[in-house]
Amino acid sequence: MISIIGSGRVGTSAAFDILRFRISDVVLVDVVENLAKGEALDMMQAAPAIEFDGKVVGTSDFSQIAGSDVVVLVAGGGRKPGMNRLDLMNENAKVVRSSVREVVRYAPDCKLMVVTNPVDIMTYVAYKESGFERNRVFGMGNILDAMRFRSYIAMELDVSREDVRALVIGEHGDSMVPLVEYASVTGIPITELLTKDQISRIIDQTRTSGADVIKLKGATTHAPGVVIAVMVDAVLRGRNRVMSVSTYLQGEYGFSDVSIGVPVVLGRNGVEKILQLKLKPDTHKQLEKSVSTTKDSIKLLQT
Ligand code: 2OP
Repeated sequence: MISIIGSGRVGTSAAFDILRFRISDVVLVDVVENLAKGEALDMMQAAPAIEFDGKVVGTSDFSQIAGSDVVVLVAGGGRKPGMNRLDLMNENAKVVRSSVREVVRYAPDCKLMVVTNPVDIMTYVAYKESGFERNRVFGMGNILDAMRFRSYIAMELDVSREDVRALVIGEHGDSMVPLVEYASVTGIPITELLTKDQISRIIDQTRTSGADVIKLKGATTHAPGVVIAVMVDAVLRGRNRVMSVSTYLQGEYGFSDVSIGVPVVLGRNGVEKILQLKLKPDTHKQLEKSVSTTKDSIKLLQT
């Protein structure tokens, strides 16, 4: 079973994708009780059409998360148009700390997946607050960035999005690092298929892609929702998927005491393994910038 804390647009979109793909029963928690209850009822009524026989519960009672294999933390405010991810930081850190305390109380053995923005910093806050082993606390962000990177590469080449593989590492934010050297179309390096100018345009599009959606509709919902479902699936089914998630580093890539996106094997125990790639010097410099941006923000966290 999985629980989602926060029944706003991303939380409910994720919940419905998890049901639609028949991944797991879902407990939706929100401090606004009727919101979670209403969403669950609405989804339950949709269940016959998606041939889902499991359970979906909506509640404001945290004790209902007991027994969760994965708890997804989405609670907190989202970015408003023109708002930077970091503007949200201290407001959301409070929500994350209080939610994590409930998680530790009722679901002490779960894997804790953080989605609340700014996600790398909130992952750090959740890791510290929970006292969990680091493999059990990880953040979503770069997978979403990689999906967007893949989408734009596919659109530029007019090929199937499924055949485009790519990684983005670093901060889920302006300093993200799309890894051109590892992006391919069914194994063909994108550098063989696209010009430098095309690639640099795609990288710019990837960097602003979340903000572009927020400008138009006020929030991103479908893409983060489905990425949550994909990550939950990787953990619950122990699929050992290779993806970039925000992870607390202890010396990997030369960095410590920071949660930042790096490629990992995501499976039953959460982060089963951190993959240490040999990055080109320039790429490592970009990652270093991403880490220092994130560390600077961590310093500004109010306790
Ligand atoms: C996104 O990139 C807002 O971080 C969220 O969709």
